Amino acid sequence: MARHLITSAIPYINGIKHLGNLVGSQLPADLFARFQRARGNEVMFICATDEHGTPAELAAAKAGQPVDDYCAQMHAVQAEIAEGFRLSFDHFGRSSSPQNRVLTQAFAKRLAEEGLIREVTEQQMYSNFDGRFLPDRYIEGTCPNCGFDSARGDQCDNCTKQLDPVDLINPRSTISGSTDLELRDTKHLFLRQSAMRDKLQAWIDSKTDWPILTTSIAKKWLNDGDGLQDRGITRDLSWGVPAQFEGAPWTGMDGKVFYVWFDAPIEYIAATEEWADKTGGDWARWWRTDRGAQDVTYTQFMGKDNVPFHTLSFPATILGSNEPWKLVDYIKSFNYLNYDGGQFSTSRGRGVFMDQALSLLPADYWRWWLLSHAPESADSEFTWDNFQASANKDLADVLGNFVSRITKFTRSKFGEALPEGGNWGEKEAALIAELTTRVRDYEAFMEAKEVRKAAAELRAIWVAGNEYLQSSAPWTVFKTDPAQAAAQARLALNLVRLYAVLSAPFIPDASASMLAGMQTEDTSWPDDIEAALNVLPVGHAFTVPEVLFRKISDEEREEWQGRFAGTRD
Ligand code: 2FM
Ligand code: ZN
Repeated sequence: MARHLITSAIPYINGIKHLGNLVGSQLPADLFARFQRARGNEVMFICATDEHGTPAELAAAKAGQPVDDYCAQMHAVQAEIAEGFRLSFDHFGRSSSPQNRVLTQAFAKRLAEEGLIREVTEQQMYSNFDGRFLPDRYIEGTCPNCGFDSARGDQCDNCTKQLDPVDLINPRSTISGSTDLELRDTKHLFLRQSAMRDKLQAWIDSKTDWPILTTSIAKKWLNDGDGLQDRGITRDLSWGVPAQFEGAPWTGMDGKVFYVWFDAPIEYIAATEEWADKTGGDWARWWRTDRGAQDVTYTQFMGKDNVPFHTLSFPATILGSNEPWKLVDYIKSFNYLNYDGGQFSTSRGRGVFMDQALSLLPADYWRWWLLSHAPESADSEFTWDNFQASANKDLADVLGNFVSRITKFTRSKFGEALPEGGNWGEKEAALIAELTTRVRDYEAFMEAKEVRKAAAELRAIWVAGNEYLQSSAPWTVFKTDPAQAAAQARLALNLVRLYAVLSAPFIPDASASMLAGMQTEDTSWPDDIEAALNVLPVGHAFTVPEVLFRKISDEEREEWQGRFAGTRD
């Protein structure tokens, strides 16, 4: 039995994610986790909310809540939506957990012991009125380039010029509006990534089987310009993992926290500790190569904007620690999903958000469309036309119709049990041969995390069943040779079970309905197709499942298209 550690990039806490976020990390990670479990392998599937940093502080302030309350509440919201999408995390953690605080501080200390941390004194804007340093986004003023009066400290939204807070004319705090600002010295910790450049380069170069999207981004950052820069890993904020702690090898870091991108990936490990503390499980056998993790295969899923942090920064932390932590074996990254001629936009509420999607249709419709159109080799686009066509055709016409036709036919001619008689002949042999090839291809695509190709192969497997039914026509055969029609029905009803097993990683709810209809809990993976088509014996009872997938009407499509074009409040 193989052991798979699987992590999805952890979504920011500030608000509900859109379908583009979902398809870029959590959903394909869930697909892979479900597939590996179905194959009988041992899986640890981890996700969490990313709760620190300026965005969390800003969102909490906007909601008028203390930041810790806000995070607790939004974590519960995200957890519930994740359940709605049937994301099968073994643990959905929180980066603000005590486990992550302890581990993040331990990593920083270890890196210092390895000589990889240096202290740097910089100048930064301090607000006398607010009594705190202001991150770039907390400062606004007039753009020196275009005169726009609400340019942010990092960029002008009007002319897009990248700015430094000191460039702004009449700068003010966005917290209080105060203009009583001054530049003050502040000390920060820097991770000496430059010292690890060669190690990281060699490691990336050894990953010849990774997606080009992943390695090209990693190599660009390694080789462009000045190469890998040392990186500030602390910030002047109060919400986060405190940078000054008992036993810290530095002083003077009071009131500062670690940068959110330093502690976020560490949460993959800490979340596994959270899981262990809750269940009594052993986290170390997933993460420590001196304590059982040497035979673990670790796969990460993420959008392309996260790649630099996972190919360089987090590995710099892991490798720099010089401790036997499990390094990632494979990084599956995704391009962006666009929305109906533009981009999904969280700030402008453009596109469909996870909670809204579930209020329209059950999870399986979305899972199927998103996975079968995953933005792997290029960006892809959600359009309502395509969504309607794909759901109506693949799910309702092909799979749903197959299940409904054969169960209803058998019930009406033979009753609600697998009928006796007849023999399989050439058509059945041809179907078994085709399915044997296709199922092996499907497995290979799933193993390779080729999401779209796997979906296409699964669809072809459904189509093969439909074509078999169409060409063998048991309803016609029944008139002259009922025993032969019975043999065909037995095969097709077994196919329903087989489809439930193969399709479960994509559409878990429909799969459960099919298994319930076939009154079986046998979900064994089909190592041999002929054997798999004999699992349900003569006399085995079944019921006709409820309609698996309904069709999306043109009226619904038009209404939804209008409803989601605009601004979410
Ligand atoms: O881009 C994002 O949504 C980040 N919150 C992802 C963090 S992934 C990891 F490092 F934990
Ligand atoms: Zn400007």
